[in-house]
Amino acid sequence: MRELSNIARQTVKRWLIMDEKIATNVFWQDGVVTRQDRISLLRQKGLTIWFTGLSGSGKTTLAIALEQELLSEGILSYRLDGDNMRFGINKNLGFSLEDRKENIRRVGEVSKVLADAGIIALSSFISPYRADRDSVRELHDSAGICFLEVHVDCALEIAEARDPKGLYKKARLGEIKNFTGIDDPYEVPLNADIHLHSDSMSVSQEVLVIMAYLRQNNLYVPKSSLSEKG
Ligand code: ADX
Repeated sequence: MRELSNIARQTVKRWLIMDEKIATNVFWQDGVVTRQDRISLLRQKGLTIWFTGLSGSGKTTLAIALEQELLSEGILSYRLDGDNMRFGINKNLGFSLEDRKENIRRVGEVSKVLADAGIIALSSFISPYRADRDSVRELHDSAGICFLEVHVDCALEIAEARDPKGLYKKARLGEIKNFTGIDDPYEVPLNADIHLHSDSMSVSQEVLVIMAYLRQNNLYVPKSSLSEKG
């Protein structure tokens, strides 16, 4: 019994220090090619657009549409999606508070790498905890990489009525535990860069809002206009 509680204590301790650096004797290695070199090569600047909201709020649908729109403007983006990442890099994580924190930490790091490489990372995760989202923002800020938080705001009743994967139904029946919005929290963003009401806007309206924001904030230049200038 005592041994069991020791194991439990150690597990909890392990989770608490999950985002601490454990490896010693490791050294950051800079190359010669800079981020600016990549920007000049690709003629685009990387950034992360982070979609947060309830399951069924339309994060993935929006990211898919935005990815197409950016492509048509000659801009490379890449989608990171909550469900998809849980097939690979995050397949050992569930939906406890600690696992969600680790999920967001990992995908936040991956987003930053993509953005540093010059790609627009389109990251769709429920990311229900403000502190976890803020950590990802800080990660980007400290590297001088732009991070935009987009609140895909949808009333629970609407997300639940849509229930594209039948998960709300299962959660109501108690077949899924810790389901966001049902028996697990969602902390709404207090200072999202873009706030979309996905229960009353169409996907194409949402795409227009984001494209306009990017343009107004000089976050992208259409490739067509670059080639015109030579
Ligand atoms: S997060 O909370 O850790 O950010 P993430 O975005 O990766 O979640 O994954 C959410 C997806 O996992 C949902 O869209 C849904 O398909 C699925 N899912 C399975 N169980 C749960 C759960 N308990 N709570 C929320 N989503 C769940």
